[in-house]
Amino acid sequence: MDTILILDYGSQYTQLIGRRIRELGVYAEILPGDADVGAKTGPADLQAAGPAVVAGQVVSHYVGIVLSGSPFSAYDEAAPRPHPSLYESRLPVLGICYGIQRMTLDSGGQVSRLVEREYGRKLVHKTSKGQANSLLKGLPAEFSSWMSHGDSVVIPGNGWEIIAESEGGIPAALAHASLPRWGVQFHPEVSHCECGLDILGNFVLGICKAKPEWSMGAYLEQTAESLKCRVGESPVLLLISGGVDSTVTGALLLKTLDPEKVYLLYIDTGLMRAGESEEVMENLARLGARHLFKVDAEERFLEALRGESDPERKRRIIGDLFVRIQEEEVARLGIPEAYLVQGTLYTDLIESGKGVGNKAQTIKSHHNVRSPLIMEKRAKGLVIEPLDRLYKDEVRALGRLLGLPESIVSRHPFPGPGLGVRILGEVTKEKCDILRQADQVYIEELRSRGLYNKIWQAFCVLLPVRAVGVAGDERTYGYVVALRAVVSEDGMTAGVYPFDPADLVAISTAITNRNQKVGRVVYDVSSKPPATIEWE
Ligand code: XMP
Repeated sequence: MDTILILDYGSQYTQLIGRRIRELGVYAEILPGDADVGAKTGPADLQAAGPAVVAGQVVSHYVGIVLSGSPFSAYDEAAPRPHPSLYESRLPVLGICYGIQRMTLDSGGQVSRLVEREYGRKLVHKTSKGQANSLLKGLPAEFSSWMSHGDSVVIPGNGWEIIAESEGGIPAALAHASLPRWGVQFHPEVSHCECGLDILGNFVLGICKAKPEWSMGAYLEQTAESLKCRVGESPVLLLISGGVDSTVTGALLLKTLDPEKVYLLYIDTGLMRAGESEEVMENLARLGARHLFKVDAEERFLEALRGESDPERKRRIIGDLFVRIQEEEVARLGIPEAYLVQGTLYTDLIESGKGVGNKAQTIKSHHNVRSPLIMEKRAKGLVIEPLDRLYKDEVRALGRLLGLPESIVSRHPFPGPGLGVRILGEVTKEKCDILRQADQVYIEELRSRGLYNKIWQAFCVLLPVRAVGVAGDERTYGYVVALRAVVSEDGMTAGVYPFDPADLVAISTAITNRNQKVGRVVYDVSSKPPATIEWE
């Protein structure tokens, strides 16, 4: 499949570049900015596409490279640099913001700080050299771009020409006279950038000649092929967590492989939502699962979590126990050394510091990514994550393609560690029950008010504090529940859902009326960043 390689230097828009390219129907893969491009694209540079699957892995055919922006100044000592192989590659390269500044400095040009920074909408016009340039083909002579930079190219690198300038006379787009390299100072991936998608289209479809082969149908076909090659006759074991991702993964396995070889294991940690266990088992049975096992492990999880209130340690305890129970079950059921399949998404890998960018930090350890036991299996090549290139909305699209009902596909995301990371501080059975019930009321209220599908994710969080109240002339000292409701595209960033105040008040009343132990309800009005969606 023709693929554009995006090298990430830490820009907040890197993901967006990938999304826009996929919107053009072309697959895009993001790698750290210093990745060895030569090793990745290999001698296949500019050669015809190879077979779609080699040794069980989908092989991408790289046809172009995009360099992202960065929070760094290109001339900083600590600024991220590309691997030398980038400049040896013959593939077309498009540098965006930092990307073009980096190429400018690396080719003998000059970049310096602007006296007046350029932020937001700026008019850009083509220069005489830009009239016939393939990057700006079909664009009007002047258009509105979207800038976000404090540095600028002052003197273009050797062989580079300015093909567009901003209203402030600053180089806005550049092209190399003899090499297939281009750069833009503005951000064509941002929706406010007029002609942004046209510019990306000119690069990806026109210059790189990428065949628009990316579609969910094609992804499904290739993933299925890749799964079959990799797994062969071996059994596979999928850990079901109750969320959309593992259910879609389950459907994918059951459709692709011999259902006799597919073992599905659902561990009821006691940290699940109300009615979740029953629902999960019913859904998977309906999908044709032949080997579906449920382990009741509530007591073991609560025991392991007793006295622990540190968020990262709680995540690790839950993650490790998950894998330990899975290993015990494999032995008990007599499944030979099986591949472990997980519904890990791209965002899980990124948040766990395993995604793109060598400077990526661990925000929180998604238990299915960083658990030492999982890492050990991963190192042995025994972990398969068929959704790891997808974002949540793409997983939903895949679920629909696999014929899953809307009630499963459009369910809000639920984290692997479940209520364990929604009960701040120590987790106890009493707190799980209180939170489960409050959450159930909250979700029922959202559904009955027609709000559920307008919100990306909504849930209750139980705070480790109590507050004084009054009920029927008596003093109460109840728990405080925080409501979370966010809007998001992919979970990487999120905004606060702007409730009508009357809805919030009614939801609060419903929760406190139905649960005597909850004395107070508050609404979390934090976006991500700086907060995260979950509280722990
Ligand atoms: P945060 O809290 O990091 O969450 O903003 C982003 C999205 O990921 C979900 N989440 C998880 N999903 N395992 C998962 O599979 C995890 O450990 C985990 N932690 C958070 C979260 O619910 C949100 O949708």
